[in-house]
Order: sequence, then C-alpha cells, then structure tokens
Amino acid sequence: MELQREQWKSQLGFVFAAVGSAVGLGNIWRFSYMAYSHGGGAFLIPYIIALLSAGIPLLILEFALGHERMGSAPLAFAKINKKWEWLGWWAVIFVMFGIVLYYTVIIAWCLNFFFLSFYLGWGDDPNAFFFNKFLAVTKSPSEIGHIRTPILLALSVVWLINWGIVFRGVRRGIEYINKIFMPLLFFLTAVLVLWSISLDGSMNGLKAYLEPDFSKLSDPTVWIDAYSQIFFTLSLGFGIMIAYASYLPGKANITKNAILTVFINSGYSLFAGIAVFSVLGFMATSQGKPISEVVSQSIGLAFVAYPKAVSLIPGGNLFGAIFFLCLVVAGLSSSISIIEAFISATVDKFGFRRKPLITLVTIVGFLGSIIFTTQTGLLWLDIADHFITHYGLIVVGIAECLLVGWLFNIKVLRKHVNSISSIRLGYWWDITIKYFVPFVLGVILIGELYAEIKQPYGGYSWTALILIGWNWILLTVIAAFVFARRPWRTRYYEMEGRSQKNGGNF
Ligand code: ALA
Repeated sequence: MELQREQWKSQLGFVFAAVGSAVGLGNIWRFSYMAYSHGGGAFLIPYIIALLSAGIPLLILEFALGHERMGSAPLAFAKINKKWEWLGWWAVIFVMFGIVLYYTVIIAWCLNFFFLSFYLGWGDDPNAFFFNKFLAVTKSPSEIGHIRTPILLALSVVWLINWGIVFRGVRRGIEYINKIFMPLLFFLTAVLVLWSISLDGSMNGLKAYLEPDFSKLSDPTVWIDAYSQIFFTLSLGFGIMIAYASYLPGKANITKNAILTVFINSGYSLFAGIAVFSVLGFMATSQGKPISEVVSQSIGLAFVAYPKAVSLIPGGNLFGAIFFLCLVVAGLSSSISIIEAFISATVDKFGFRRKPLITLVTIVGFLGSIIFTTQTGLLWLDIADHFITHYGLIVVGIAECLLVGWLFNIKVLRKHVNSISSIRLGYWWDITIKYFVPFVLGVILIGELYAEIKQPYGGYSWTALILIGWNWILLTVIAAFVFARRPWRTRYYEMEGRSQKNGGNF
C-alpha cells in the first residue's frame, strides 16, 4: 500500500485552503445578523473572547493533531486511542452526510439568486417570492411537497463543481482553486463595501451594526451564540482542519498559520458586515423606516432584505449579482473542504482509490441533498442544522480537548508545535485545552439541552424534532461506530507520529 500523503505545494497554499474552509456562508450574513441582534459593537466583546479563549487554541490543536499524527480525524484519534476512533468518524460523517447536504442547497439558492439579480426576478415582494414562490415552503416538516426544479438544477451544478475540484486532488484541485477563489472573494467584497458605503443612509446602517449596546452582554444566549459562531466559522469540530494539516510537510509553521487563518476569517466577517449593514441603512433611509424594521432574521437577511434593498439601488442588479456570487464562492470553498475531510478519512482507513471514491461520494451526497430541495426543505434544513451544529460540533470540540488533554501527552504535542513554529505556545495552552475549553463548551451544551427540553426548538412538533434532528445525530453515531469497527486496510495506522520519529515520547 502506497503511504505517501499528498502535500500542499506551499504553506501559503495551505493557509488559502484553511481560510477557504473557514470563510463561508456563515461569515456573510450569519455573523452580521448576530452582531446586529446581539448588541451591535458590544457583540464583538463575547466574539473576541470566544475567539481568543476557544477559537485560536482549538484551531492550533486541530492543526497540531493532523500534522503530528499525520492523518485525517479518525486516523489521528485512533492513533491516540483506538477506542476513540469513532469520534473522528462521527465528525466527518455528520458533516458529509449532514451539514454539506443542506449547505450545498443554500449555495444552490444563492446561485439562483445570482441569476435572478440580473433582472430583479424577485419582483416587488421579495418575502412572498422567497418563501411562497421560490421555496414554496409547506406548513410542516411532514408535508414533503414537490422537488423545486430550479433549486435541483442549481444543486446539480454545485455538486458538479465540488466534484470537479476535489477530484483534481489536494494540490491541483483544492489548493489551486482557493488561490483563485479567495482573492476573487476579497476583491468582490471590497467592491460591495466601497459601493455600499457611498449610498445615502449607509452611516445609519453602520451605526446599527457597530454601536455597542452593552446591556445585551448580560444575556447568556449572546455568549452561547458567540461561541457557536466561532466554532462554525472556523470549521472547528468538522474534521476538516485536521485533514488539511495532515497534508503539510514536516516543517510547518503551525501557530502562525492558525493565527493568520483566524485573523483573515474574522476580519472578513467584519468587513462583509459593513456591506450588509450599509445597504440596510440605505434601504431604511430611502423608505423612511427605522433600521429595525428592515432587518430580517438570518436567512431572510440574505434572501429577503437584501433583494429588497438591491431593487432600490441604482444599478442594483449588478450589486445583487456580486453579492450572491460572493456567497456562492465562499460557500463552495467551504463545501469542498467538508467533502475532502470525509474522502481523506476513508482513503486513510480503507485505502480506496481516491478518484472513484470521490465520484461515488458526490453521487451519494447529491442524492442525499435532494430532500432539502423539496418544499419542506427549509424546515428540514432548520432542524438538521440546529441539531448538528449545536450538538455535533460542540460535542466533538469537548471530546477532542479531553482526549488530547487527558489521554495524550499534551506537553509533547506542544513541544512538537514549538519545534516547528515561529510563535511559541506556553503552558497556558495546555490549561486552556485541558480545563477551560471543555468547561465553557460543557456549560454551553448543558444550557442548550436545558432549553431544548423546556421548549421544542423552533415551535416544531416533538415528532419532527425526534425523527429529523435526534435521529440524524443517532444514525451518524451508529455509522461512526460501524466505520470504526472495520479493520484498517492501510498501514497508516501503524505509522509513528512525527514527534515519535523525532525522538519524542507519548
Ligand atoms: N466555516 C464555514 C462557514 O462559516 C462552514 O460557513
């Protein structure tokens, strides 16, 4: 069996890919809306605290794990403790057969809206258009309805692009495309920012976005949301960053690359928020309404409020097209990373040939996404997303800290990082990983579970929440155990970690 891992062409290429994974749909409107609804500029306080206390230490941990253990999530975990291999599988399975299934459908909506922008195809009432005509949402998750053809068509294009990129491999596919996608995304976003701040009333929007309202900081949900946003936005707990770091050469500046990724990602969120809120300020001013009346919730912000505003901007069709193109590009660079995390894990364990495997996984992924293109798609998406991102990611985050902090010699991992990085990690990192992050995430998890039991999420029926949400979690856990129990078909599992090779001892 060939044991040569593919490698990034350069460390910059790796950073581009990691940033590509991090910068996604979540940065553009999820962050903006959260900042707005959680106290404007004051939200930056919990956001930055979450970033420093959990985001950076965990990203360093995932990079270090993938690099030192030289493997995707299941391999890295198995090489720490065979009993925990399932955890790595769970991460890559619930993202591949969970998150990416609906994530690609949202990209497909964006692709539709990109084309609609050219002739402002949402008409005079974007709200009615989006919910009643475009999605034609049914009343409950049990009413599946029909497949929405425009969404299905765009979805096939999205999967085809995903397939095309991942098929070409780590270096020629993922690294290459991110070196094009990221500069393109930053350029297009800069055009939007400059254009939007020149609009009348943009300052009102920026005031609403950034003016701090410190009273919100006493609300625990603001803190919970800040931590879960950091997780989602940095693709932590997805198994992606572990796989990506496993493709680094022996000498790799782990801490510098992690800090660069974090700053570019959060900087991008803040920057994109300027465009979102300047436009909303413009719309509020031109309609003589307060900002609070023109802002809509998360998905509505991009697909209702924004189209409304775009219709009012002179030359708005181009503006809208650029905005939705940004979402498509940001989304694709993240979806390919999810697929790669699963492919990398399966190749590591079973030694399958990469290309036929990618084709098969793409077909299965595409078929699995179809449920989200039906009229009930939005409701299923809402439930699946709530359960997977609130429980899956957080549980993986806690478990990886405990695993590395308590079952592994974390000091050796820190030494490994320090021996190759320009920014050295101190003892604080061990403490953060061993105690602080699991504690904070544990509190969040308990808070979430309590809220879950007190009141059914989103006003859905218990049956829907159990059949879709809890079942999704359960089935992916079972699948993870099944994968973990299969014997290793490659010798990756027997290979020593990089620090063992260099004389370090676990
Ligand atoms: N990190 C990706 C996002 O924010 C998944 O959308």
